[in-house]
Amino acid sequence: MPFIIDGKKVSLQIKDELRAAVSALKREKNIVPGLAVVLVGSNPASKVYVSMKEKACAEVGVYSEKHLIGEDVSTEKLVELIKSLNKSGKIHGILVQLPLPGHIKEEQVIESVSPLKDVDCFHPYNVGRLLIGDPVMLPCTPAGIQQLLLKSGINPEGRHVVILGRSNIVGKPLFSILCQKSAGANATVTLCHSRTQNMKEITSSADILIAAIGKPHFVKADMVKAGSVVIDVGTNRVDDKTAEKGYKIVGDVDFEDVKNKVKAISPVPGGVGPMTIAMLMKNTVNACISQTGGGNQGE
Ligand code: GUN
Repeated sequence: MPFIIDGKKVSLQIKDELRAAVSALKREKNIVPGLAVVLVGSNPASKVYVSMKEKACAEVGVYSEKHLIGEDVSTEKLVELIKSLNKSGKIHGILVQLPLPGHIKEEQVIESVSPLKDVDCFHPYNVGRLLIGDPVMLPCTPAGIQQLLLKSGINPEGRHVVILGRSNIVGKPLFSILCQKSAGANATVTLCHSRTQNMKEITSSADILIAAIGKPHFVKADMVKAGSVVIDVGTNRVDDKTAEKGYKIVGDVDFEDVKNKVKAISPVPGGVGPMTIAMLMKNTVNACISQTGGGNQGE
């Protein structure tokens, strides 16, 4: 069996450290970090993610506010809500759960979040700062992947990292993080997507292969290099009549097919997912500290 990269365990360590930092903030400065989560409509997967984020806030001691907004809200109304959250002294981080309904102008909503409260790191200002290597904060899933690797004893420096998927949430910002001239990065990064030719040739040369394409069990054993590391970012719902809910969550990697060929692999669930939420907590605490004056927690 390969080494199983345990995101649940690493995320618990990070949340423990944050809980201690939050309680010190309260004790010493009477400050409580606050996160506002905005959910538009009733996408079932989004509802699950939002409730996981609320639970994490409670675990770490972060104040959380959930704003449930009807599907038919206008872009203008949503921007108005975000502007009021930008001004709120109780709120240090704002997260608008994506995807938004089709009629809403997503870029306008993202750009209305104050860059200082943009704990997702989706605002173009923060995306640009990330790309030039001077980030205000790091995007949750990509930063979670980097931390998961490092805390599992896998350093991407000098390695060939192949990312599958060019999304704005994972692929592109992960590329930006791992190619930087900085400790824990310094990787040679290849970004593959749906138009990539010779995909198998490229993935087979990866020391670290990171799959974030949203295709169940896309990565098979013949696509990976023997002894490599595989990180699975996929959370795909597939029908399963034997499951209580009628579906199960599977990754982008065919774990059973790949497991005997690789050195280490992150599972789904229990891999990247919990790390994303831990990083969201970290961004909220750090945003609070920088908005209220004080030093950052952790790297
Ligand atoms: N939808 C899928 N992933 C994310 C995420 O990391 N943040 C937000 N806001 N929405 C998402």
